[in-house]
This record gives sequence, C-alpha cells and structure tokens, in this order.
Amino acid sequence: MKEISLTGIKPTGDLHIGNYFGAIKPALELAKTYDARYFIADYHALNTMKDPAELNTTIRQVAAGWLAAGLDPEQVIFYRQSSVPEVFELTTMLMAFTAKGLMNRAHAYKAMVQDNTEKGNDPDAGVNMGLFTYPILMAADIILFDSDIVPVGKDQVQHIEMAADIAQSVNANYGKPVLKIPRAGVQDDSAIVPGLDGRKMSKSYNNTIPLFVPEKTLRKTIMRVVTNSQGVEEPKDPDSSQIFLLYKLFASAEEQAALASRYRAGGMGWGEAKEELFRAANRELTPMRERYDAIMADIPALDKILAQGAEKARPIAAATVTRFRKAAGVQ
Ligand code: TYM
Repeated sequence: MKEISLTGIKPTGDLHIGNYFGAIKPALELAKTYDARYFIADYHALNTMKDPAELNTTIRQVAAGWLAAGLDPEQVIFYRQSSVPEVFELTTMLMAFTAKGLMNRAHAYKAMVQDNTEKGNDPDAGVNMGLFTYPILMAADIILFDSDIVPVGKDQVQHIEMAADIAQSVNANYGKPVLKIPRAGVQDDSAIVPGLDGRKMSKSYNNTIPLFVPEKTLRKTIMRVVTNSQGVEEPKDPDSSQIFLLYKLFASAEEQAALASRYRAGGMGWGEAKEELFRAANRELTPMRERYDAIMADIPALDKILAQGAEKARPIAAATVTRFRKAAGVQ
C-alpha cells in the first residue's frame, strides 16, 4: 500500500513563493508516488478573517493556485476543510487527549501572549479559542486521513509534532494503533523562504512575493528586496545574499553556478542581481499565472472540482472517526 501525503493551506491572503516552494511544489512532487490529499484550511482562516466576501474569494484563490501549480484532481483528493465535517468530530475527540499545557507551548499562541505582555495588555487580549486550539484542529486534519507525511515549511513542524504526540496519547490509552502517527516532510533548500526584508516570507510581515501578480507587479516587488550598501564594482558573497537565495529557488544548478561567479567577480550591482532574479522567477511563474487567470475566470467549474474532492474525502474521514469511536466506546 502507498503511503499517504497530506497538506493544507490557510486561505488568509495571496499565495506567495514561500507557500509555493515550502509546501505546494514539494507536495505535488510527492503526489507522484504517494496517495495525496490536499486541502484548503478555511476554518483555520476564520480565526483571523471575519469578512465573508473576502474569505469567499481567498478560498477560491488558494484552490486555483493549487490547480495552476499543477495539482491534478483526478490523482489527488482535493477539497475544502469545511466540506468534511468529520474533522470537527475528530477535533472534539482529540481534545480529550490533549494537555492544555501542550497548547500553551504552541508558537502562534505564545507569540501573541508575549506581545501582549510586552505591551502591558492582558496576556490573552485578542486570543480567541480558535487560535488557542488551532493545533488540535490541525492534528485532526492530519490524523483524519491516516497521513504518513505532511509536506510543510519549517514554521509548521511544531504543529505536526503535536499531532504525532496527540495520536500517540490515543494509541497509548487504548493499547493499540487506533490512529496513524504522522511525520513532517521539510525541504532542505526551501524550509524557510526569506521575504523582501530578509525575515521569513509571511503574509503577517507584509514582505511577500505573491505568486500570481501581473509581470509588472512581480518586477516591482522584486526590486523592493532589501540589500546592503555595496557598490556595483565590489565583489559580493552570493551565499549571504537573500536575492541569491531566492534566485536559487528558480534556477538550475548551472545557472546558479554562473551567477554566483558573477557575484564574486564584482562589477554587478544589486539592481542587476534583482533583474536576474526577476527573469528567473517570471520564467517559472508566467505559465502558472496564465493557468491561474483561466481557472479564476470559471468559479463554478472550480467549485465543482472541490465538491467532487469532498465526496471522495468524506468516506475516508468517516472510517477514521468510526474506528476511533469504536475504540473509545462511544457508539
Ligand atoms: P500557511 O497557510 O501559513 O502556509 C501554507 C504552507 O506554506 C508554508 N510556508 C512557507 N514555507 C517556507 N518558507 C516560507 N516563508 C513559508 N511561508 C509559508 C507553510 O509552512 C505551510 O506548509 N496551519 C497551516 C495550514 C494547515 C495545515 C493543516 C498544514 C491547516 N491544517 C494540516 C498541513 C496539515 C498554515 O497556516 O499554513
């Protein structure tokens, strides 16, 4: 039997190249050899997105992004989290096996509490229960589909380790393997894609290079990558340049070696380095952008694909929940 690969993306804004290289591209590579289940985590987005029209749009944008990047819905079970209500039943069952202390240690919650404390606010200001229990819903997403591997960027690894911990607690309690134990699949070269300012590329830092913007906007965005003050003639170290790090994601090994020598030789300014990055990025993103625009022009067809995916997903989900209910004596 093939192993199962599963991952999800939260529709909270434009997809960016961190999502693409950290999760989408590796996930599509895994789909060639694994049974793949990929989804739009719309209930996770609800924690922060309270405008219905906006959420409705971002759900379609993320779905179209997956398809434009090459997801084949015949090969991958592709669905919206909210279309598989079994996940909420599993979430409630998993809550009974999740220590509150484990949630206290989750990065996103801890960061908010720390920020509040530093500002002299109530530690839990702005923290809703959706944020606090986020890792349990995510564990349910993963465990529901008997996932073996979860392709993600490094920022999500803690969540997958928590999912594994929670599943282990369940199995330990019943003395048998009721639930599958997942593992994270993280790429060496794109675990943390840097953003325009050198920090991790993230919607919340407003430092992203979006995947599907028009060519002109892509170029303008790339020109905003922050650089140091080295002049044109000065030799430059490619390995400490985030422009080069980004270039590597789009270029072949030969292209990388050739550009690295130009950096080291001097005579190439940051403007030219950014042009090279733009050319390589635009080469890879242009065909995807064209497919994306075509998909977004036919939302009913897109919704149909997601509905068909949900139909395939639900029986698998129901089987996991039934297995757990039986083991738990809740029948
Ligand atoms: P999200 O929506 O923030 O990000 C989606 C995926 O993109 C990866 N990623 C990055 N990878 C490398 N470098 C970056 N700068 C970068 N920024 C984002 C993320 O690691 C992620 O893989 N909680 C998840 C969504 C989720 C999920 C799941 C994932 C819900 N349920 C079950 C896997 C399995 C999230 O917010 O990802």
